[in-house]
Amino acid sequence: MKPYIILGIVQPGLEDLACQELEQLGITKYFKLKGGVEFVGHQSALIKCNLMCRIFSRFVIRLDSFIATTFRELDAKLNNLPWNYYIVNQKVCFHINSVSSKLYHEKAIAMTLIAFLNKACKHEIEIVGSPDEPDTQLVIVNVKNNQFTISLDSSGIHLHKRGYMPWREKAPLRETTASAMLRCIPDSDKPIIDPMCGAGTILIEKAVQAKKQPLSLFRDFTFQNWSLFQEDTFKQVEAFFMEKVIENPRIVLKGSDIDEKSIKTCKFNAESAGVSDIIDFEVKDIADYLGTLKRHIIVTNPPYGVRVKGVHLIGKLTKLASKNEVYFLHPLKHRTGDTLFTTNNGAITVHYQKIR
Ligand SMILES: C[S@@+](CC[C@H](N)C(=O)[O-])C[C@H]1O[C@@H](n2cnc3c(N)ncnc32)[C@H](O)[C@@H]1O
Repeated sequence: MKPYIILGIVQPGLEDLACQELEQLGITKYFKLKGGVEFVGHQSALIKCNLMCRIFSRFVIRLDSFIATTFRELDAKLNNLPWNYYIVNQKVCFHINSVSSKLYHEKAIAMTLIAFLNKACKHEIEIVGSPDEPDTQLVIVNVKNNQFTISLDSSGIHLHKRGYMPWREKAPLRETTASAMLRCIPDSDKPIIDPMCGAGTILIEKAVQAKKQPLSLFRDFTFQNWSLFQEDTFKQVEAFFMEKVIENPRIVLKGSDIDEKSIKTCKFNAESAGVSDIIDFEVKDIADYLGTLKRHIIVTNPPYGVRVKGVHLIGKLTKLASKNEVYFLHPLKHRTGDTLFTTNNGAITVHYQKIR
């Protein structure tokens, strides 16, 4: 079987950190794009990335790339593709984008694909609007200057949905962004603290990473539905990483929030992720750390004053920075902050900064 061309999709701004993850998994040849990283690998690489990468949003494989300027031509080209390796009984979701091409009508392209797949699979395929529906195969079609590129998602539900954070709070952070934030802090014995921890995303992410737990412990992936799915390879890759799981990592993690309900959420989520034994959560105002907190690494996502009020809290972080290392994600640039990356949190542009 030929290797796949794999595209790891990543939030713009996090590409360099995502490449570091690939390198740690032994994938050293890649091509960095805006919002993605392309590389070549067999199904074992695809499985490894889905199980162990923490910053990527999803991994897709390139099925084919061809020129088509008429629907008849498109139908003929679709016929050459090995659909039956991948689509069996799954529901299908299409993401189609066409620019500067003769076949510009995205709905008409979708109709051609649906008619084709119904014929190829010998039954009526169920089409759904979201790739997050269970047992759904996302098919991505990009058309530019008449060049069609057809890709199939291998991940399923967006990878930031780890499967171990059942409860959310106001203004949550994506786990993929939390992972990027954590990758920027030094390896150290210092305790890590999030004093405005909301649902606990950053600390629970750090705890799962410290235990080296593969994501397959918590969720499924689309590639498991492919007829070409190599179950033995999956089991081997999973067993390889399971052997490396550390039950009691040497790490001190503390979380606090002024909101009592958030702390209940944190405890529930940490329990669900199997990391409640290595994180302490408590209800506390960040102001109560002033003058007492020393030699900690603070990693946090304070309120932005848009979804949750409280821009003034950055002043408290600035004071804490005299005796601690402070890293925070915020739309405002700090006057003595070194920006480590800039990305989006929802519709808001945010900067991850270390206070000098
Ligand atoms: C943007 S949210 C953090 C979201 C969190 N990273 C997550 O993923 O769920 C900011 C948090 O700061 C908390 N907060 C606001 N003022 C605070 C204060 N004075 N002391 C401690 N926490 C505070 C809010 O209750 C809220 O949970």
